[in-house]
Formats: sequence, structure tokens, C-alpha cells
Amino acid sequence: MHSIRAQFFGFITALLLILLILLNTYPLISSRDLVFEEKKRSLSSQAAVIASSLSGLETLSRPGIEEVLRILDVSGLERILVTDTQGRSLYDSGGSQSAEGDVAEALSGKIVFRSRFADAAFASACAMPISGQGGLAGVVYLYETDTERAGLILDVQNRIMIVSLVIAGLSLAIVLLFSEVLLHRVRELVRSMRIVAGGDYDHRLAVRGQDEIAELGEEFNQLTERLDENERQRRRFVSDASHELKTPLASIRLLADSVVQNENVDVGTMREFMTDIGSEAERLQRTTEKLLDLSRLDDDVQVASEPVDLRQAAVDALTMLRPLAEEKHVSLHSELDDGCVIMANNDDVFHILFNLLENAVKYNVPDGSVRLLLREVGDSVELTVEDTGIGIPEEDRLNIFSRFYRVDKARSREAGGSGLGLSIVHDAVLAHGGSITVGANKPRGSRFVVSFPRATSEETGI
Ligand SMILES: Nc1ncnc2c1ncn2[C@@H]1O[C@H](COP(=O)(O)OP(=O)(O)OP(=O)(O)O)[C@@H](O)[C@H]1O
Ligand SMILES: [Mg+2]
Repeated sequence: MHSIRAQFFGFITALLLILLILLNTYPLISSRDLVFEEKKRSLSSQAAVIASSLSGLETLSRPGIEEVLRILDVSGLERILVTDTQGRSLYDSGGSQSAEGDVAEALSGKIVFRSRFADAAFASACAMPISGQGGLAGVVYLYETDTERAGLILDVQNRIMIVSLVIAGLSLAIVLLFSEVLLHRVRELVRSMRIVAGGDYDHRLAVRGQDEIAELGEEFNQLTERLDENERQRRRFVSDASHELKTPLASIRLLADSVVQNENVDVGTMREFMTDIGSEAERLQRTTEKLLDLSRLDDDVQVASEPVDLRQAAVDALTMLRPLAEEKHVSLHSELDDGCVIMANNDDVFHILFNLLENAVKYNVPDGSVRLLLREVGDSVELTVEDTGIGIPEEDRLNIFSRFYRVDKARSREAGGSGLGLSIVHDAVLAHGGSITVGANKPRGSRFVVSFPRATSEETGI
């Protein structure tokens, strides 16, 4: 694994290196070129002045040349060489540089200039033809070295180097420090992830600052929060479910035991016991069926949606519930609009309607009533189930859709309820893109409102 720091460090070092190289070469090269230019100008103009003064002489001879040079100011020059047309020296102020090549070139009529920067000095040479009355009379060759300017340039170069080394060192240190701080926070995040992955869902990361890493930490904490909540729910569910299954199983065992242990039970009592065993078994069966329904809804495997006419489903559910309603002396009323079609699944819709209506009848009072309304509201279809029953206290309404939740445990159990009906309703409604709310009915009772998006004509194919 390449650590981020190594990559970062490598990148910054390469960048700094390029910068340093540029900084340490470009100013030097360009100032050197400037000096070359200047040398060329000054040396050529000096050569031109000497050449034109010499061309005024009738013949080039050492005394004549000395005379001319005395008049002209030639103090800055290291060497002055004047040759005749054959390249033979007529005057030489002295010097070891070989001038033959330049002189030969100047003899062919060209002005020659050369300059170089070496050994902390600028060395420049210029050779220029001297024109006499009858054409070429000779060549003047000038040579000059300049250590002053060279020293200046080298000094500047040294300073740039020191400053850039200091800057490079400082930036590397800052980068190192910064990446250390950053990586420390990343490592902290990774450590927290490992802790949570190990199963400690209570762990939270202490988030500092407001940058992207802090955002990441925030997200991580939220994720952990959700994991924690899921885990709690799962535990609660398992314990609730086992409890729900344990109670009827215990009664079945108790009833069976008492039949087995009592040798002379009469047929009537036996029948009574058996009926009780049967109803406990039935309750078990209902609970497990509902658990299966819930786990199917949980699975999120989207069952194929089909157009479902809610009116037809409502009529079916009402028909199924009529016997229970008659038994409880509860009257059923309905106002069902036509054309309320949604995209869903017939079984789920039936479960929703049946469970809501069953509750409305079960938790009602004698001579109470239940009203089912079905109508279109804008782009939605709204289902309302109202009853005049015992109602649901406001503080229980939040929990009513949780698994195994019952307001009045004794009453619900007596009515054969498992506390799963509304969870199934809730999950089924959400699975088909709907929403459900619960409130109070006036003057008494409860009201459940379910809303679904209406199926579009493309979906229904009509
Ligand atoms: N219309 C209602 N009026 C009053 N209380 C209600 C109503 N509907 C539900 N409740 C309360 O909400 C609880 C949960 O309802 P839910 O339908 O989930 O379970 P259940 O009816 O007890 O059992 P199940 O529906 O699984 O047979 C009920 O036990 C009951 O206390
Ligand atoms: Mg119910």
C-alpha cells in the first residue's frame, strides 16, 4: 500500500524541485545574456572607434598606432592587438589569448564578437577590420575580462539558492505537519470504523472542524446511529416474537398436561380443553403467517406492480368483515368513488384494507359504526377508515405501527390480536409508494388515512 503521505510528499517534492531548478537557472541565464548583449555593444563600438581612428593614418605602424591609442581612452581593455593585412602583429598590448582565428575571420571583412562566462568572469573579444585608403588596412582585436559584473551575478545566484533552499525546507516541513494532522484524523476515522465493525454500535467518533473529513465523520456517525437503531430493533423484534410464540405454546402445553395427568376427565371438559388448544394453535398460526407477511415486505423484493382497483378491493374486504361486524353489533358504511386505480399488488392492498377495517370493528363499541371513504384527491387516491370505537391515546399513536405494539395488551390479546396488523399495513403502504397517518375521529374513535399516488394512464394502459 502506498500511503497517502508518501504520494503527497513525492508530489510536493517533485514540484519543489522543478521550481527550484527554474528559480536557480532562469534568472542567471537571462542576466548573463543581458551582459553579453551589453558587452557586444560596448566592445564593438570601442573597436569601431579605434578602427576608424586608425583608418585615418596613412600607413599602419607601431608609433602611429601608439599615438592614436594615447588620444583615445582605452583604459578598460585588457588587450589591444593591431595587425596588418597579413595578420602580422603591428601592435600588441600583451596577452596570452590566441587571437589568430578571430583576426583571420576579420581579415575576410567580418566583424567578430565572442563572449563567455567562466571562472567567475566575463571574457569578451571583438575583432574588426580597419579600412584604409586603398581597401583593407588591417585588423584591430580587443579583449576584455569583467569580474565585477560576474561577481554580482554569482552573488545574486547564491542568495537565490539560499532563499530557495530555506523556502523548500519550510514548505516540506509545513506539508509534513499538515499531512500528519490530516492523516491522524483519517486514522481516527478508520479506527472508529474498525470498532463499529467489531460490533460496538455505541461507539461515536468525536468530530472536529467543518471540513470534508469532519463531514465524513458526521456521515459515519449517522450510519452507526442507524446501524445501532437497526440492531436494537432486531433484538427487540426477536425477543418480542419469541415472547409472542412462547405464550400460546405454554398454554397448549399446560392444557395438554392437564389432560394427560387427569385420568378421569369427562368428555365435556376434554372437549373444552381441546377447543382451547385449538384456538391457541390458531393464534400461533395467525402470528406466524403475519410474521411471514412482514418478512416478505421487509425483503424489498418488489412484487410486480399491477393496476389495482381500490373500489373492488374495498368491497371484497367489507364483505369478509360483515360477519365480525354483525357479531360485534357494529354497522359498516362506505362511500367509494369510481376509478381509484393505483399501481400495487392485490394481496397487499387487501391486507391493508382488511387490517384497518378489522381493527375499526374490533376496537369498537356495541352499536358503533365504521366508515370507509375512497376518493381521488389531485394526483392521489385517499382511503379513510373512521370508527366510533375506543380511540387511540395520542401518546400511543407514534408507536402504533411498531411490531407487536398494542395499546391495551389484555384487550387486544383477548380479541385474538398479535399486534402485527398495523405493521403489515404500514410496510405494505410504504412498499407501494403511499403514506399513512393516524388521528382521532370526531367525536370519538380513530381515523386512519392512507394515500397512494394514482396510477397514470401509461401505467394502466387505458
Ligand atoms: N381502530 C382502532 N381503534 C382503537 N385502537 C386501535 C385501532 N387500531 C389499532 N388499535 C390499537 O393498536 C394496536 C395495534 O394494532 P394491530 O392491528 O397492529 O394489532 P392487533 O389488532 O392487536 O393484532 P392483529 O392485527 O395482528 O391481529 C391494537 O392492539 C390496538 O390496541
Ligand atoms: Mg389488527
